[in-house]
Amino acid sequence: MNAAQPPSPASTLGPPLWLLAEVTYRCPLHCAFCYNPVDFARDDTELSTEDWLRVLREARAAGSVQCGFSGGEPLMRDDLEVLVAEAHRLGYYTNLLTSGVGLTAERAQALKAAGLDHIQLSFQDSTRELNDFLSHTRTFDLKQRVAGIIKDNGWPMVMNCVIHRLNIDYIDRIIEMAVELGAEYLELANSQYYSWALLNRDQLMPSREQLERAERITNEYRQRLGDRIRIFFVVPDYYEKRPKKCMNGWGNVFLTVTPDGTALPCHTARMLPGLEFPNVRDMDVKSIWYDSEGFNRYRGDSWMKDPCRTCPDKEKDHGGCRCQAYMLAGDPAAADPVCDKSPDHHKVVEAVERANTPGWKGAEQPLIFRDPARSRELAACGKR
Ligand code: FES
Repeated sequence: MNAAQPPSPASTLGPPLWLLAEVTYRCPLHCAFCYNPVDFARDDTELSTEDWLRVLREARAAGSVQCGFSGGEPLMRDDLEVLVAEAHRLGYYTNLLTSGVGLTAERAQALKAAGLDHIQLSFQDSTRELNDFLSHTRTFDLKQRVAGIIKDNGWPMVMNCVIHRLNIDYIDRIIEMAVELGAEYLELANSQYYSWALLNRDQLMPSREQLERAERITNEYRQRLGDRIRIFFVVPDYYEKRPKKCMNGWGNVFLTVTPDGTALPCHTARMLPGLEFPNVRDMDVKSIWYDSEGFNRYRGDSWMKDPCRTCPDKEKDHGGCRCQAYMLAGDPAAADPVCDKSPDHHKVVEAVERANTPGWKGAEQPLIFRDPARSRELAACGKR
């Protein structure tokens, strides 16, 4: 290689270690913070079982070691056990990300027999009222039963609860519920503002006071509970001054395959303008990862503009999140506006200020729930 030229991304690039198989966008829940694209219902094509089996084999051959089955609700696919069995046979560590709907004792046993390693069960709150309101379904009791099924089958109990303005004040009860259900891990993930959560940002963003209280209470529980449960508390990045290294770097570790077979470096990248993403029906996983324009576009740093280009932190945060840069600054190559060096940082500051204005009416607007009919309406207005 000519010493004067920067290395091509492929020459220093590792494999797609983490494969996220979004096997369907179908979901019985209607969460107001769902991370699926707003226009998810525009196209309801799904890869066949054979296609998914091929994707699993190709990704494993390309170096993937962990496979998450996600959605929508992955249990809506009745071939899930077949896919898990193949992933297990290929040597993946397998993970199911589920709302619990559809996880009967029989299916759990079949998934166990297929070799499923790990289940992450999501809750919306510790009370039936708020859980069922936020998911717009009656699922609270079902989730409690599913937690028992997970324990009965000997899987580690990993609970996830998206935290936001409407449930953050009950964080103590959420932690206590996780302990009662025997969870070994609890992820308290503050909502980040993408997709449906961005539509509902004004209603979902907590105040600074709420956030600080929740973090303090979480730390008290951590001390009190010790090794009994590991609690992760993820702060909303709007409250940070420096952006996250989103997806651990664009096209660096994560490969998402959407229900229709589109391969993406993150689950919302399809919204980015001027980028074509390949489909696993047309291209093999290795070529997608190393050679496709969509995966190569934001690798390295030659795409960066100032302030990122000359920033001493650019290796650390890689300019933040490309999707957030597009959503807030209108330019996917801009600095993530979460960064206080971004010329668009004021947009984040203003959203945070609104969330901290006592009596601010925006927080009281009705939520927009994820729903296929709503998705098609919003897609028709250009929302993605
Ligand atoms: Fe797409 Fe951050 S979510 S790059």
